[in-house]
Amino acid sequence: MGKKILVTGGAGYIGSHTVVELQNAGFEVVVVDNLSNSNEEVLDGIYRITGKRPAFEKLDCRDKEAMRSVFTKYEGIEGIIHFAASKAVGESVKMPLLYYRNNLVSLLNLLDLMPEFGVKGIVFSSSCTVYGQPDVLPVDENAPIKPAVSPYGNTKQICEEIITDTIHAGAPFRAILLRYFNPIGAHPSAEIGELPQGVPQNLVPYLTQAAMGIRKELSVFGDDYNTPDGSCIRDYINVVDLAKAHVIAVNRMIENKSAEQVEVFNLGTGRGVSVLELIAAFERATGVPVPHKITGRREGDIEQVWANPEKANKVLGWTAQESLDDTLASAWKWQVKLHERGIM
Ligand code: NAD
Ligand code: UFG
Repeated sequence: MGKKILVTGGAGYIGSHTVVELQNAGFEVVVVDNLSNSNEEVLDGIYRITGKRPAFEKLDCRDKEAMRSVFTKYEGIEGIIHFAASKAVGESVKMPLLYYRNNLVSLLNLLDLMPEFGVKGIVFSSSCTVYGQPDVLPVDENAPIKPAVSPYGNTKQICEEIITDTIHAGAPFRAILLRYFNPIGAHPSAEIGELPQGVPQNLVPYLTQAAMGIRKELSVFGDDYNTPDGSCIRDYINVVDLAKAHVIAVNRMIENKSAEQVEVFNLGTGRGVSVLELIAAFERATGVPVPHKITGRREGDIEQVWANPEKANKVLGWTAQESLDDTLASAWKWQVKLHERGIM
């Protein structure tokens, strides 16, 4: 029997890819997901890739008694990877209480229950959004945290603080805060990927839908930024690479190898790519043209941000491997599959 890991939000985009990598590495996985932004069929995709179906409980992390029953039923959970959260920046501005309640209460319940069940640690999904527009690029983990521009971003900052304060107060577990840059792409098998709900807000799902003809054209939000081609710059990281970092992190934590009780890592490639460069890379990788036009800036966008991933490279022994072109080809393969299945 492998070590038992609870993955909240394990039916979601990053969660499902992480469950695959955990199972491939021999971990026994328990998924809790309320399916508010995912579909149970994701578990079939995980089964087709790994030959194994994770234990699944359709539950809400806000329900503390339900979560307690999970720890009781699956005795011996050693670590948690906590993905479950609401994540749409624009929606969070309109429905702040939903975001604060979902993202904070879910975490508080887990932190309360961990000592009761002897769980050794929690890996938390944070974001480079905590850096705002960094003063120095590439940005490392010591950069100052900037005031959040959305309730969503604020929940990530507050959750990081809640975990840190709890551990400083003597909680008997460890934590690793992973600050993701921009996860994109899908599993190379196209059995799992990102399931967009409604009109995509993020660049790559919108781009693949425009390339498929589902959307008329991609709007490039601004070409008058202070960047070489005028469009915004991000650090796009392959979702499978990202998933693999979680396996290393959770193992480090439950094996008590962390240098400190709370550790923070940037997960990015170290490579900044502009929106226009990304469109060109997609066309090069797939041969499929992307209808697009330049429009005005999107409110709240950061001009440019990319990671200094050296700490994760050295301390975790993890480096992003996949090229941007292969990653975009995987996103396209997934889009084609969704279309064939009549989903999108
Ligand atoms: P996702 O929406 O695909 O996955 C989240 C999963 O959590 C979904 O399956 C959803 O149904 C579930 N969920 C939400 N609230 C829940 C609750 N109360 N109880 C049980 N399940 C619940 O999102 P994702 O892109 O996979 O993101 C995973 C995590 O990474 C989130 O915490 C997100 O904020 C964070 N993150 C994502 C990105 C990104 O660009 N995708 C960037 C930085 C950080
Ligand atoms: N963009 C377009 N057109 C679109 C969509 C996006 O030009 O239709 C541009 C944006 O202006 C931005 C870039 O593409 O310059 C990336 O935008 P995304 O919306 O894909 O990603 P963001 O960097 O804005 O934010 C994402 C997540 C956040 C998370 C952040 C850092 O949405 O939740 O990455 O991890 F916090």
